[in-house]
Amino acid sequence: MQQQSSKLFEDVLVVGGGLMGAGIAHVLAESGVHVTLVDQSTQDLERARRQIEKMHGRKHPETDVQSVLNNINFSTNVEEGKHCLLAIEAVLEKMTIKQAVFKQLDELLPPQAILASNTSSLSIAAMSSVTARPAQVVGMHFFSPVPIMRLVEVVRGINTSDETTEKIRTFGEQIGKEVIVAKDYPGFTVNRALVPFLNEAAYLVMEGNDPAEIDRGLMLGANHPIGPLKLIDSLGVDVLLFTIESLYEGFNDSKYRPCPLLKRMVEAGHLGKKSGKGFYDYS
Ligand code: NAI
Repeated sequence: MQQQSSKLFEDVLVVGGGLMGAGIAHVLAESGVHVTLVDQSTQDLERARRQIEKMHGRKHPETDVQSVLNNINFSTNVEEGKHCLLAIEAVLEKMTIKQAVFKQLDELLPPQAILASNTSSLSIAAMSSVTARPAQVVGMHFFSPVPIMRLVEVVRGINTSDETTEKIRTFGEQIGKEVIVAKDYPGFTVNRALVPFLNEAAYLVMEGNDPAEIDRGLMLGANHPIGPLKLIDSLGVDVLLFTIESLYEGFNDSKYRPCPLLKRMVEAGHLGKKSGKGFYDYS
């Protein structure tokens, strides 16, 4: 039996049903929240449904996924979520696209609704600026894979109110996540600390160190559960490069200078696990 919801938000609109949006819809539905999951085409929605079925099979092979799917309305029409008091945006990481979505949600949802973004690097302040409710715009940053990773970073923009921040913190806990609050600067908290560390590990390889030795060093010497180069390979070398570039540009500070080896690897198509080759070989 699916548990009944008694959450701060009973109905949530999730916009964008890719890797993250489908994961967010999954976690919400599993905790009893009714979700309207919106993407651009029925194929996108079908892929989201398959992702949820697959992840459910991995996490709870003994139970039926149907009770989770029953809580999700898969739709290509964002108006089907216009009653929701919380929307979580998880479309592509591009400010113009996000601002268009925020403008649309602002016009559609009730005036008291909160508009959240799952962005991993873009400014919450810039998204809030296109709405008539900047105090109700906030970051709700999940980590991948959403049904497995326990953290949610609540990102407080310059305009975000205390009340909005607290509501999203409480809701994050109600859906079973651990929550931290971060300021709205590039990388927020986790990526701000993690990404320069991973970039530095790439420099160590560029200088001639062996990836396996570096990984062993960090696992044994700093008690990390996974070595930095294995982690880069599973995140995607291109994803790391994009994020370190956004820190570099966002702070205009040479300490975030992207490792040239990362650029060369991306140019060569060595993107990590997903391409079969990164710092390690997966073929
Ligand atoms: P994705 O490319 O898998 O999914 C994006 C989805 O948004 C696609 O299915 C696309 O069709 C849909 N979309 C685009 N415009 C739309 C619109 N106007 N209305 C409805 N749907 C629309 O991307 P992913 O990886 O899920 O990332 C989404 C967001 O989450 C990005 O902001 C990303 O930075 C952030 N994020 C990604 C993480 C990751 O590990 N991939 C981790 C944490 C945050």
